[in-house]
Amino acid sequence: MFSKKTVRDIDVEDKIILVRTDYNVPLVPVEAGELEHEPIVVNPTSDQNLQIASDLRIQASLPTIKYLLEHKAAKIILMSHLGRPDGKRDKSLSLRLVAEKLAELLSGVVVNFVDDVSGPEVEMAVEDLPDGGILLLENLRFSPEEEANSEEYAREIVDSTHAELFVQDGFAVVHRAHASTDAITHLIPAVAGLLLEKEVKTLTKITASPEHPFVVIIGGAKVADKQPLIDKFLKLADTIYVGGKIAADGYQPTDPKILVATDFDEDSAGAKLDIGPVSTAKLVELLQSAKTVLWNGVLGKVEDAAYATSSTIVAKILGENPAITSVICGGDTAGFVESLCAEDPALQYSLISTGGGAALELLSGQDLPGVDGLEDL
Ligand code: 3PG
Repeated sequence: MFSKKTVRDIDVEDKIILVRTDYNVPLVPVEAGELEHEPIVVNPTSDQNLQIASDLRIQASLPTIKYLLEHKAAKIILMSHLGRPDGKRDKSLSLRLVAEKLAELLSGVVVNFVDDVSGPEVEMAVEDLPDGGILLLENLRFSPEEEANSEEYAREIVDSTHAELFVQDGFAVVHRAHASTDAITHLIPAVAGLLLEKEVKTLTKITASPEHPFVVIIGGAKVADKQPLIDKFLKLADTIYVGGKIAADGYQPTDPKILVATDFDEDSAGAKLDIGPVSTAKLVELLQSAKTVLWNGVLGKVEDAAYATSSTIVAKILGENPAITSVICGGDTAGFVESLCAEDPALQYSLISTGGGAALELLSGQDLPGVDGLEDL
């Protein structure tokens, strides 16, 4: 099922461990007076202060970090990208905010941040880090060498941090062949973290041996993004239910297994912004007997509460029913479900995937370069 070694298969005690996480978190501007932190991320070209809108990816990295701490790793060096700075230093995409959030979530653990990924400053920061401490490096994509998959870049990081083991836990970025996902695996022993293992196992299971009835819910806006998923699951699922903007735009089913929403809630200008009561009732009926549900793409314009009705109903049915294996994937869908969980922590899902593109590529059967390079079991 998952054929790669994980942190559980290797001795981590007393080692300096380099962990690739995906802290590509959404940042939103905050108005003065609303700041929860000192205004440390300020884009020099504007005076906007930013804060993290969702910490799903930071929370999701904690099990591996805690495992390494509990198993007495000497030092944990975390690295990630944030946004697409295009190989240039862009202060508004600094990971410093993430380090602050981590320190808040891991109280009692030293969490430091360093303004670079390699070189003397990083060496010193690693040396200064106490045993059992964590150091987050600056945004990997501030150099073009990251996306160029440069082995030299990866080697500089390894040399400066003295890392002895690489752990890939950034599931959301494993579809990219970059220095921190691919090149680095050729330099030091490389294994999977617990988030990566959980994501790959759960997503692979529903593509290999899902329990039936299996319902796939597809929403969102772009048919081109969703069609590979519809094609893939046509063989595996019992029903594929299409809602969201693609249904509103007139998606044409090519198979009797594909059901498309038929009625919509509209605004005063006639724009179809959510699936309507008849379509929602049909979907609810399907979910009531489902054993496995994969949901990718919100069903309406959920950022407007008036058009979040059908998505909220679906999220509640899945989150309140532990008998259903429920997998939520795609950035918007995961973000929406996560915001409901924040209001109602009793909602539980088998997996809220942290990977947008990575999850879609895995589900549609493509290879993931960031997984391929890890050590086999
Ligand atoms: C994501 O958010 O999907 C990942 O962090 C990958 O980001 P990218 O699409 O900029 O490579």
